Amino acid sequence: MRVRKLAYGCGAEITDVDLSADLPQSTIDDIREAWLKHVILVFPNQDFTIDQHIRFSRRFGELESHPMKNLRSPLGPEILEIHNRVIDGKPSETGDIGRNWHSDGAFTTQPPTGSFLHCRAMPEAGGNTWFNNMYMAYETLSPKMKNIIADLEVVNDINNIYIRAGGVGRRDPHKVAEDNRLNPPVIQSMVRVHSETGRKALYLSEAVTQRIVGLTQDEGAGILQYLFKHSVRPEFTYRHYWRINDLVLWDNRCAMHLAPRDYDPGEIRHMCRTTLTGEKLGRYLDQLPA
Ligand code: OGA
Ligand code: MN
Repeated sequence: MRVRKLAYGCGAEITDVDLSADLPQSTIDDIREAWLKHVILVFPNQDFTIDQHIRFSRRFGELESHPMKNLRSPLGPEILEIHNRVIDGKPSETGDIGRNWHSDGAFTTQPPTGSFLHCRAMPEAGGNTWFNNMYMAYETLSPKMKNIIADLEVVNDINNIYIRAGGVGRRDPHKVAEDNRLNPPVIQSMVRVHSETGRKALYLSEAVTQRIVGLTQDEGAGILQYLFKHSVRPEFTYRHYWRINDLVLWDNRCAMHLAPRDYDPGEIRHMCRTTLTGEKLGRYLDQLPA
Protein backbone atom coordinates (compact mmCIF):
# COMPACT_ATOMS: atom_id res chain seq x y z
CA MET A 1 0.00 0.00 0.00
CA ARG A 2 1.31 3.41 -0.99
CA VAL A 3 0.25 6.80 0.43
CA ARG A 4 0.68 10.01 -1.55
CA LYS A 5 -0.43 13.42 -0.32
CA LEU A 6 -2.82 15.19 -2.70
CA ALA A 7 -3.02 18.68 -1.27
CA TYR A 8 -1.60 20.84 1.49
CA GLY A 9 -4.83 21.04 3.48
CA CYS A 10 -6.06 17.45 3.36
CA GLY A 11 -6.31 14.39 1.15
CA ALA A 12 -4.05 11.47 0.33
CA GLU A 13 -4.22 8.84 -2.39
CA ILE A 14 -3.88 5.18 -1.42
CA THR A 15 -2.74 2.82 -4.15
CA ASP A 16 -1.46 -0.74 -4.43
CA VAL A 17 -4.29 -2.16 -2.40
CA ASP A 18 -7.37 -4.12 -3.58
CA LEU A 19 -10.24 -3.29 -1.24
CA SER A 20 -12.39 -6.14 -2.57
CA ALA A 21 -9.88 -8.64 -1.14
CA ASP A 22 -9.98 -10.08 2.36
CA LEU A 23 -7.45 -7.64 3.80
CA PRO A 24 -5.37 -8.45 6.88
CA GLN A 25 -6.05 -6.38 9.99
CA SER A 26 -2.61 -4.77 9.67
CA THR A 27 -3.65 -3.20 6.34
CA ILE A 28 -6.90 -1.92 7.86
CA ASP A 29 -4.85 -0.43 10.72
CA ASP A 30 -2.54 1.28 8.21
CA ILE A 31 -5.53 2.72 6.35
CA ARG A 32 -7.04 4.00 9.60
CA GLU A 33 -3.77 5.64 10.54
CA ALA A 34 -3.55 7.36 7.14
CA TRP A 35 -7.20 8.43 7.43
CA LEU A 36 -6.71 10.04 10.84
CA LYS A 37 -3.68 11.86 9.52
CA HIS A 38 -4.91 13.02 6.10
CA VAL A 39 -8.67 13.35 6.88
CA ILE A 40 -9.64 12.42 3.29
CA LEU A 41 -8.45 9.25 1.53
CA VAL A 42 -8.83 8.49 -2.18
CA PHE A 43 -8.62 4.87 -3.37
CA PRO A 44 -8.59 4.81 -7.20
CA ASN A 45 -9.67 1.83 -9.35
CA GLN A 46 -11.78 -0.01 -6.80
CA ASP A 47 -14.08 -1.98 -9.04
CA PHE A 48 -16.20 -3.63 -6.39
CA THR A 49 -19.74 -4.83 -5.86
CA ILE A 50 -22.16 -3.32 -3.34
CA ASP A 51 -21.49 -6.30 -1.06
CA GLN A 52 -17.74 -5.77 -1.24
CA HIS A 53 -18.22 -2.05 -0.58
CA ILE A 54 -20.29 -2.87 2.52
CA ARG A 55 -17.87 -5.57 3.70
CA PHE A 56 -14.84 -3.29 3.41
CA SER A 57 -16.64 -0.40 5.16
CA ARG A 58 -17.64 -2.65 8.08
CA ARG A 59 -13.97 -3.21 8.90
CA PHE A 60 -13.99 0.38 10.20
CA GLY A 61 -17.10 0.17 12.37
CA GLU A 62 -20.85 -0.23 12.39
CA LEU A 63 -22.77 1.12 9.38
CA GLU A 64 -25.82 3.33 9.69
CA SER A 65 -29.03 3.59 7.75
CA HIS A 66 -29.67 7.14 6.55
CA PRO A 67 -31.65 9.30 9.03
CA MET A 68 -33.89 10.50 6.17
CA LYS A 69 -35.86 7.31 5.52
CA ASN A 70 -37.04 8.29 2.08
CA LEU A 71 -33.43 8.50 0.91
CA ARG A 72 -32.64 4.86 1.63
CA SER A 73 -31.69 2.82 -1.39
CA PRO A 74 -33.33 -0.37 -2.67
CA LEU A 75 -29.77 -1.77 -2.77
CA GLY A 76 -29.85 -2.10 1.03
CA PRO A 77 -30.38 0.01 4.14
CA GLU A 78 -26.62 0.60 4.49
CA ILE A 79 -26.40 2.20 1.03
CA LEU A 80 -27.16 5.81 0.22
CA GLU A 81 -27.36 6.34 -3.53
CA ILE A 82 -26.69 9.83 -4.79
CA HIS A 83 -27.86 10.13 -8.37
CA ASN A 84 -29.74 12.44 -10.71
CA ARG A 85 -31.68 9.83 -12.68
CA VAL A 86 -35.38 10.31 -13.34
CA ILE A 87 -37.16 7.09 -12.35
CA ASP A 88 -40.81 6.53 -13.37
CA GLY A 89 -41.04 10.22 -14.25
CA LYS A 90 -39.95 11.26 -10.76
CA PRO A 91 -36.84 13.40 -10.31
CA SER A 92 -34.29 12.01 -7.88
CA GLU A 93 -34.43 13.24 -4.30
CA THR A 94 -30.69 12.90 -3.86
CA GLY A 95 -29.55 14.69 -7.02
CA ASP A 96 -28.96 17.95 -5.19
CA ILE A 97 -27.48 16.60 -1.98
CA GLY A 98 -24.63 18.58 -0.48
CA ARG A 99 -24.85 21.82 -2.46
CA ASN A 100 -23.65 23.83 0.57
CA TRP A 101 -20.64 23.15 2.75
CA HIS A 102 -21.66 20.67 5.41
CA SER A 103 -20.67 17.93 7.77
CA ASP A 104 -23.07 15.00 7.45
CA GLY A 105 -25.74 14.60 10.09
CA ALA A 106 -24.78 17.72 12.05
CA PHE A 107 -28.55 18.20 12.51
CA THR A 108 -28.71 14.98 14.58
CA THR A 109 -27.42 13.94 18.00
CA GLN A 110 -25.40 11.12 16.44
CA PRO A 111 -23.57 12.40 13.36
CA PRO A 112 -21.61 9.81 11.38
CA THR A 113 -17.91 9.22 11.94
CA GLY A 114 -17.20 9.13 8.24
CA SER A 115 -18.36 7.88 4.87
CA PHE A 116 -17.11 5.81 1.95
CA LEU A 117 -18.31 7.29 -1.34
CA HIS A 118 -17.90 5.20 -4.49
CA CYS A 119 -18.17 6.64 -7.99
CA ARG A 120 -20.31 4.62 -10.45
CA ALA A 121 -21.07 7.21 -13.14
CA MET A 122 -19.72 10.72 -13.72
CA PRO A 123 -20.59 13.41 -16.26
CA GLU A 124 -17.97 14.13 -18.88
CA ALA A 125 -16.89 17.28 -17.06
CA GLY A 126 -17.33 18.39 -13.45
CA GLY A 127 -19.30 16.54 -10.77
CA ASN A 128 -16.47 17.20 -8.31
CA THR A 129 -16.57 17.07 -4.52
CA TRP A 130 -14.71 19.56 -2.32
CA PHE A 131 -13.42 18.72 1.13
CA ASN A 132 -11.83 20.83 3.85
CA ASN A 133 -9.81 20.32 7.01
CA MET A 134 -11.56 21.62 10.14
CA TYR A 135 -8.50 21.04 12.37
CA MET A 136 -6.67 23.57 10.24
CA ALA A 137 -9.63 25.92 10.30
CA TYR A 138 -9.53 25.84 14.10
CA GLU A 139 -5.77 25.95 14.52
CA THR A 140 -5.33 29.01 12.27
CA LEU A 141 -7.68 31.17 14.36
CA SER A 142 -6.03 33.77 16.58
CA PRO A 143 -5.71 32.90 20.29
CA LYS A 144 -8.30 35.60 21.06
CA MET A 145 -10.81 34.13 18.60
CA LYS A 146 -10.20 30.64 20.02
CA ASN A 147 -11.06 32.05 23.44
CA ILE A 148 -14.20 33.72 22.17
CA ILE A 149 -15.56 30.55 20.61
CA ALA A 150 -14.28 28.09 23.25
CA ASP A 151 -17.64 27.71 24.97
CA LEU A 152 -19.96 28.63 22.14
CA GLU A 153 -22.65 26.28 20.94
CA VAL A 154 -24.74 26.42 17.77
CA VAL A 155 -28.25 25.43 16.78
CA ASN A 156 -28.26 23.05 13.81
CA ASP A 157 -31.58 22.63 12.07
CA ILE A 158 -32.32 20.50 9.00
CA ASN A 159 -35.01 22.99 8.01
CA ASN A 160 -32.22 25.43 7.24
CA ILE A 161 -31.41 23.38 4.13
CA TYR A 162 -34.90 23.99 2.75
CA ILE A 163 -34.94 27.65 3.76
CA ARG A 164 -31.61 28.20 2.03
CA ALA A 165 -32.84 26.41 -1.08
CA GLY A 166 -35.61 29.02 -1.28
CA GLY A 167 -38.45 26.83 -0.07
CA VAL A 168 -38.98 23.16 -0.51
CA GLY A 169 -37.77 23.17 -4.11
CA ARG A 170 -38.24 19.85 -5.85
CA ARG A 171 -38.85 17.92 -2.66
CA ASP A 172 -42.32 16.82 -1.75
CA PRO A 173 -43.55 19.23 0.99
CA HIS A 174 -44.93 16.29 2.99
CA LYS A 175 -41.49 14.68 3.04
CA VAL A 176 -39.92 17.98 4.07
CA ALA A 177 -42.44 18.24 6.93
CA GLU A 178 -41.60 14.66 7.90
CA ASP A 179 -37.85 15.42 7.89
CA ASN A 180 -38.48 18.36 10.19
CA ARG A 181 -40.63 16.29 12.52
CA LEU A 182 -38.08 13.47 12.73
CA ASN A 183 -35.11 15.83 13.08
CA PRO A 184 -35.87 18.57 15.59
CA PRO A 185 -33.16 21.24 16.02
CA VAL A 186 -30.06 20.19 17.96
CA ILE A 187 -27.33 22.00 19.86
CA GLN A 188 -23.68 21.22 19.08
CA SER A 189 -20.44 22.70 20.41
CA MET A 190 -18.60 24.88 17.96
CA VAL A 191 -15.25 23.36 18.93
CA ARG A 192 -15.12 19.58 18.78
CA VAL A 193 -12.48 17.36 20.29
CA HIS A 194 -11.83 14.46 17.94
CA SER A 195 -12.43 11.23 19.84
CA GLU A 196 -9.50 9.36 18.25
CA THR A 197 -6.82 12.00 17.70
CA GLY A 198 -7.69 14.26 20.66
CA ARG A 199 -7.20 17.27 18.38
CA LYS A 200 -9.59 20.21 18.37
CA ALA A 201 -11.53 20.99 15.22
CA LEU A 202 -14.07 23.63 14.31
CA TYR A 203 -17.47 21.96 14.14
CA LEU A 204 -19.93 23.82 11.96
CA SER A 205 -22.10 22.82 9.04
CA GLU A 206 -22.98 25.79 6.93
CA ALA A 207 -26.00 24.05 5.41
CA VAL A 208 -27.74 23.57 8.78
CA THR A 209 -26.01 25.84 11.33
CA GLN A 210 -28.57 28.51 12.03
CA ARG A 211 -27.46 30.57 15.02
CA ILE A 212 -25.28 30.72 18.11
CA VAL A 213 -26.94 29.68 21.37
CA GLY A 214 -27.58 32.68 23.64
CA LEU A 215 -27.11 35.26 20.89
CA THR A 216 -29.78 36.64 18.62
CA GLN A 217 -29.64 35.62 14.97
CA ASP A 218 -28.25 39.08 14.12
CA GLU A 219 -25.63 39.02 16.87
CA GLY A 220 -24.32 35.63 15.83
CA ALA A 221 -24.54 36.12 12.07
CA GLY A 222 -21.27 38.02 11.73
CA ILE A 223 -19.27 35.47 13.70
CA LEU A 224 -20.81 32.58 11.81
CA GLN A 225 -20.28 34.21 8.42
CA TYR A 226 -16.66 34.81 9.26
CA LEU A 227 -16.12 31.23 10.46
CA PHE A 228 -17.86 29.72 7.41
CA LYS A 229 -15.65 31.78 5.12
CA HIS A 230 -12.49 31.07 7.08
CA SER A 231 -13.20 27.29 7.24
CA VAL A 232 -13.06 26.89 3.50
CA ARG A 233 -10.04 29.01 2.69
CA PRO A 234 -8.56 27.33 -0.41
CA GLU A 235 -5.42 26.24 1.44
CA PHE A 236 -7.53 24.06 3.77
CA THR A 237 -9.28 22.24 0.94
CA TYR A 238 -8.89 19.39 -1.49
CA ARG A 239 -11.10 19.22 -4.59
CA HIS A 240 -11.70 15.74 -5.91
CA TYR A 241 -12.16 15.18 -9.66
CA TRP A 242 -13.88 11.80 -9.77
CA ARG A 243 -13.08 8.85 -11.97
CA ILE A 244 -15.31 5.80 -12.17
CA ASN A 245 -14.46 3.39 -9.32
CA ASP A 246 -12.79 5.94 -7.10
CA LEU A 247 -13.64 5.32 -3.47
CA VAL A 248 -13.26 8.31 -1.15
CA LEU A 249 -13.31 8.04 2.63
CA TRP A 250 -13.70 11.21 4.70
CA ASP A 251 -13.48 11.85 8.41
CA ASN A 252 -16.79 13.57 9.10
CA ARG A 253 -15.62 14.63 12.58
CA CYS A 254 -13.06 17.07 11.24
CA ALA A 255 -14.05 17.87 7.64
CA MET A 256 -16.85 19.48 5.70
CA HIS A 257 -17.63 18.77 2.07
CA LEU A 258 -19.52 20.31 -0.82
CA ALA A 259 -20.91 18.97 -4.09
CA PRO A 260 -21.16 21.90 -6.52
CA ARG A 261 -23.63 21.82 -9.39
CA ASP A 262 -20.69 21.99 -11.76
CA TYR A 263 -21.87 19.61 -14.48
CA ASP A 264 -24.44 19.16 -17.20
CA PRO A 265 -27.61 17.99 -15.41
CA GLY A 266 -28.54 16.02 -18.53
CA GLU A 267 -25.65 13.65 -17.84
CA ILE A 268 -25.78 10.95 -15.17
CA ARG A 269 -23.87 11.25 -11.92
CA HIS A 270 -24.20 8.19 -9.70
CA MET A 271 -22.51 7.55 -6.34
CA CYS A 272 -22.97 4.89 -3.67
CA ARG A 273 -22.20 5.64 -0.05
CA THR A 274 -21.78 3.65 3.13
CA THR A 275 -21.72 5.53 6.41
CA LEU A 276 -19.98 4.79 9.71
CA THR A 277 -22.25 5.22 12.73
CA GLY A 278 -20.97 7.97 14.98
CA GLU A 279 -20.86 8.61 18.68
CA LYS A 280 -23.64 10.46 20.51
CA LEU A 281 -22.98 14.16 20.33
CA GLY A 282 -24.84 17.28 21.44
CA ARG A 283 -28.46 17.47 22.57
CA TYR A 284 -31.90 18.50 21.37
CA LEU A 285 -32.83 22.16 21.59
CA ASP A 286 -36.21 21.20 23.02
CA GLN A 287 -37.77 18.01 24.20
CA LEU A 288 -38.34 15.49 21.43
CA PRO A 289 -41.95 15.74 20.24
CA ALA A 290 -44.11 12.84 21.40
C1 OGA B 1 -22.57 12.94 0.78
C2 OGA B 1 -22.41 14.11 -0.07
C3 OGA B 1 -21.36 14.73 -2.11
C4 OGA B 1 -21.22 14.27 -3.51
O1 OGA B 1 -22.51 11.82 0.27
O2 OGA B 1 -22.72 13.12 2.01
O3 OGA B 1 -22.54 15.21 0.37
O4 OGA B 1 -20.29 14.75 -4.15
N1 OGA B 1 -22.06 13.83 -1.33
O5 OGA B 1 -22.03 13.46 -3.98
MN1 MN C 1 -22.67 15.06 2.62
